[in-house]
Amino acid sequence: MKVIITGAAGFIGSNLTERLLNEDHEVIGIDNFDDYYSGKSLFLEQSMAHPNFSLIHGDILNLQLLKETMKGADVVIHLAAQAGVRISVKDPLKSHMVNTVGTLNVLMASLDGGVKRVINSSSSSVYGNIDDRSVTEEDLVIPVSPYATSKLAAEIYCRQFYELYGLDTVSLRYFTVYGPRQRPDMAIRIFTESILNGLPPKIYGDGEQSRDFTYVDDVVAAICSAMSAPELKGVPINISGGKPITINRLVSELQAICGRTDLDPIYFPPQPGDVNHTWGDPTLAIKLLNWKARTGIREGLRNYVEWYVNNEERRTILSSDISSTHSATSMSISNPLDDLLIYK
Ligand SMILES: NC(=O)c1ccc[n+]([C@@H]2O[C@H](COP(=O)([O-])OP(=O)(O)OC[C@H]3O[C@@H](n4cnc5c(N)ncnc54)[C@H](O)[C@@H]3O)[C@@H](O)[C@H]2O)c1
Repeated sequence: MKVIITGAAGFIGSNLTERLLNEDHEVIGIDNFDDYYSGKSLFLEQSMAHPNFSLIHGDILNLQLLKETMKGADVVIHLAAQAGVRISVKDPLKSHMVNTVGTLNVLMASLDGGVKRVINSSSSSVYGNIDDRSVTEEDLVIPVSPYATSKLAAEIYCRQFYELYGLDTVSLRYFTVYGPRQRPDMAIRIFTESILNGLPPKIYGDGEQSRDFTYVDDVVAAICSAMSAPELKGVPINISGGKPITINRLVSELQAICGRTDLDPIYFPPQPGDVNHTWGDPTLAIKLLNWKARTGIREGLRNYVEWYVNNEERRTILSSDISSTHSATSMSISNPLDDLLIYK
């Protein structure tokens, strides 16, 4: 298949790119190498050497560029986003522009280019604060952060593009993804770094909040299943391990793996926009995608710590002042010609 991946240079995108190239697909990546965090250019090192891969350094806010790129593609896998709850609380307009307007652009360009299916990346955060129970796609969605709102709006556009124009779409609601190349703003990376540096891990809240962590290879497998599944009709689907653990337990697992059970965590007030629990019921994914998570948390964490220790040069760095350098008001929509830099 001819596959377009937006956000190909990121955490999930670069892992997915490698898998699709191994399966002999033709892959075109689009990424603007957004400076929310730096160092991701090394993630595509291996893929760049592959004859079936090309990379466009461009922005999903550039509709003309997307139209030119998506012509004749079989599938568009849309991962590009301003990911993260906390940054969205600081700069809600950027999250809205990239995540909602950017997705609308992807849908319009896909429709225009005759794409057969768009696989959108949504998030468990759309559910908002749930009790400590698993949620299905039938449950109410009440976003509590600008990030979640932007992702929900994007999902709704995806459904509408199926209903109004017949473009087959699906929104995969990923539940906290972790593994090699994980973003530097995510808890597992931050805890691992502290523990390996001999510093006590900092926990926001009492640590009894829980997350349904899902290993990146399992998420990539779910995307691959969505590429070939029968018509998906714009629906959202939970992509979750279905086995949440508390943050306190996560930290103690990491301490055990790193051999530093002596480092007691320090607790801070909860962060605005963060939800108490995430726990996804994966029944619909089993039914529509024939997909189930396979990696247990202990195995996944061990893989991650091993990757972290052995890939010092590939550890990405969060921009030090995200609030001032990422104001959406200063974002410009670039000239299509500037963007058409194709690296091969
Ligand atoms: N990682 C998770 O736990 C998780 C959970 C739920 C949903 N998601 C969603 O999955 C997707 C991928 O997440 P990730 O963790 O790999 O994030 P990531 O930040 O590592 O990857 C996103 C990529 O998009 C690129 N990008 C940002 N703005 C862009 C723009 N305007 N034009 C083109 N490219 C742009 C970035 O440079 C980056 O390479 C996102 O849509 C995210 O919201 C992730």
